[in-house]
Amino acid sequence: MFICRARVFDTPSDPFAGGTLRSDSDIALVVDEGLIIARTDYASAVAAHPDAEVLDLRAGVLIPGLIDTHVHYPQVRAIGYLGMPLLDWLDHCALPEEAELGDDAYASAVAGEFLTGLTSAGTTSAMVFGSHFASAVDTLFSQAAEVGLRITSGLVTSDRILPEELLTSVERSVAESQDLIDRWHGTGHLRYAITPRFSFSAGQELLAAGGRLAADNPGVWVTSHLNENRDEVAGVAEMFPEALDYLDTYDRAGLLGRRTILAHNVHPSERELARMAEVGAASAHCPTSNSNLASGFFPLRRHIEAGVRVALGSDVGAGTGFSLLKEGVQAYFMQQLDPSGGLPLSSAHLLHLGTTAGAEALDLSDQVGDLSEGKRFDAAYISPTAGEPLDVGIRNASSDEDALAKIFAMGTPADISQVWVDGDLVKG
Ligand code: GUN
Ligand code: ZN
Repeated sequence: MFICRARVFDTPSDPFAGGTLRSDSDIALVVDEGLIIARTDYASAVAAHPDAEVLDLRAGVLIPGLIDTHVHYPQVRAIGYLGMPLLDWLDHCALPEEAELGDDAYASAVAGEFLTGLTSAGTTSAMVFGSHFASAVDTLFSQAAEVGLRITSGLVTSDRILPEELLTSVERSVAESQDLIDRWHGTGHLRYAITPRFSFSAGQELLAAGGRLAADNPGVWVTSHLNENRDEVAGVAEMFPEALDYLDTYDRAGLLGRRTILAHNVHPSERELARMAEVGAASAHCPTSNSNLASGFFPLRRHIEAGVRVALGSDVGAGTGFSLLKEGVQAYFMQQLDPSGGLPLSSAHLLHLGTTAGAEALDLSDQVGDLSEGKRFDAAYISPTAGEPLDVGIRNASSDEDALAKIFAMGTPADISQVWVDGDLVKG
């Protein structure tokens, strides 16, 4: 048991629905076996638990662990290629690197780098796009189990267009996926996600096999890409002439539901948004990726108005790193710039998108997403070096919202000194 005495910012009430930032300059969180058993003033916490160790974190700011709803494990070493649209970037940058994960030793090294990338950035839960190689996905799950992160991931499947070594068959994909589900789904903090890469590289039979796996294994997740790039969208329309639209290629395969997270959705139709809202599927908004690949402006206003759930994703390696602080400020920039009228975002919106909204999208909000009593202690401590611009900014902020805006504007993984999952340190 320990008492965490801290300045805490979180967003239990949704700023997109009239809520505001919850900020406490000096509050005690009593943590017992990973559970926040009390959120109270320090004197009361010490009186109730006089023998508990005290962590004094008032010098910085404690936020809930960040939640990344779209990040590619095999692309850690592909971060930072600039200047290409999606389909060229895949051919020249991402896919050659992904092919390397057929080598077990290589995959093991990359899995370690990937998990370090998450924990360094203060990310404690993630929907992770896995590898095309079952052994590489197994390696990710086994290393994630050791670190303790809340990871949902799965075997990426494709049966056309991609380089030969990344392709599978319906039979093989079902056998390998079922084996991984049996080994990992529901083990500790791990869950399985059926992961067709995108309809551009997955035929109808392969998608339908994924839908049958989802039906046969209640509780598993589904993730893929949707409406990211205009050439991709046009290609999918040609390949699936019978589908109503891109979303429908997943829907008619049985892949669409409340446990589905679809990345990007930069170019949706009104029908697609209405259908996502109807079934409760979520969009993972990946702002640095959308900027880097010039995919377009994410229609956040249309998502919110349609009632579609949205959370943040880093989309490493098209995204430019693991930091959801960077994704947050980039989301803000792009909403400002969107010629068709973006949503003005406050720092509370950004924190919500990177924490509470992610927990909701991943159906983890009974456990994480804010630092209320009754939640698990997943948290990131932001403590910039004294005298550096972020430290000066936080100290001179005009309000807590302003201090949080500075954290998004200037914060990097180097400013995050400690990170906990379930009360256990995973960084620091
Ligand atoms: N669509 C299919 N594969 C990918 C990928 O690896 N990254 C992005 N951003 N989009 C994709
Ligand atoms: Zn992606």
